[in-house]
Amino acid sequence: MSARNDLERLVRPNILALAPYRSARDEFQGLASASVFLDANENSLGSPLEEDFSRYPDPYQRPLKEALARQKGLLPGQIFLGNGSDEAIDLLLRAFCEPRLDNIVILPPTYGMYAVQAAVQDVEVRRAPLCADFSPDPEAVLRATDERSKLLFLCSPNNPTGNRLPDSFLIAMLERFPGLVVVDEAYIDFSEQPSVLSFLEKYPRLVVLQTFSKAWGLAALRVGMAYSNSFVINILNKIKYPYNLNVLSVRISLQALERSSEWNDKIGVIKAERERLARALTALPQVREVFLSEANFLLVRTTDADRIYAALCAEGIVVRNRTRELHCENCLRITVGSPAENDRLIAALQNLNAA
Ligand SMILES: Cc1ncc(COP(=O)(O)O)c(C=O)c1O
Repeated sequence: MSARNDLERLVRPNILALAPYRSARDEFQGLASASVFLDANENSLGSPLEEDFSRYPDPYQRPLKEALARQKGLLPGQIFLGNGSDEAIDLLLRAFCEPRLDNIVILPPTYGMYAVQAAVQDVEVRRAPLCADFSPDPEAVLRATDERSKLLFLCSPNNPTGNRLPDSFLIAMLERFPGLVVVDEAYIDFSEQPSVLSFLEKYPRLVVLQTFSKAWGLAALRVGMAYSNSFVINILNKIKYPYNLNVLSVRISLQALERSSEWNDKIGVIKAERERLARALTALPQVREVFLSEANFLLVRTTDADRIYAALCAEGIVVRNRTRELHCENCLRITVGSPAENDRLIAALQNLNAA
């Protein structure tokens, strides 16, 4: 089977047949000489603001994709940009999973939105839990799948555990799972290992998710990326809202990309703070284990997560209580903050112990 046919068989038939909405901005592309735009029912007089926001934005965010493509060594046509990577997760489900017929496979404990978006779409979620040490079990994943398994979500580094899934496991899944393998790399820039973007050339059924919300420090903008082959990207473009990203988010993301060196410095600080925080936490009597993390958070097994969570809240410090997640009994997920924030957290925990 050709790679294209292999992908086509995964798409919901109604989506494959869909003629997408063509916006006014789709139709005028290519008319470089045009200067009077009376095609989109905008307000040509503008708004009460000084800056002009009167025109709909580019539906395909071309300059930002070109900049990302250069940085990642890909083609712009291999990039989808969404309102956070959450939009890409949602659209992958809509495009590939037939409600009440198809299923997705996840490896709990993991990022909650895969299951939530599947539930919204009435798509079955199959679970192949990570082992107690948070490593994946390839055979268990394959046992959980059937011919209606369309998407396998693999989060690496994984939220909330912080560990990476080994490349050998990802490759085994790409070779053996017959649907799309979605590797969510929201935290990849905090890891020492490279991204799996280089696998895209060999594996047409791979989708890689990344985001501006974590390492780039731009969560408020809501910009996330899906990288794949152009067939999958075109399917996502076909079903997205026509103007899914606003002009400010795109512009500021582009400005951030142009300042990559400053960005690298910040990541270095967060990684150093992660190690310092891990050492300080390990020394506390109410901490049983700090799991190794390749992300910007630490999963910490404590003596009593509910009590420590409440005590930290009373000090004005909010962490994430993960004690009810599989294999995470008495675990808190703690984001690595600024050096001052980390100092406050450590002091609060030390005082808690003294009390
Ligand atoms: C693993 C993972 N994927 C995706 C996201 C969503 O990111 P975005 O802000 O790009 O929607 C998060 C956010 O916490 C996450 O932890």
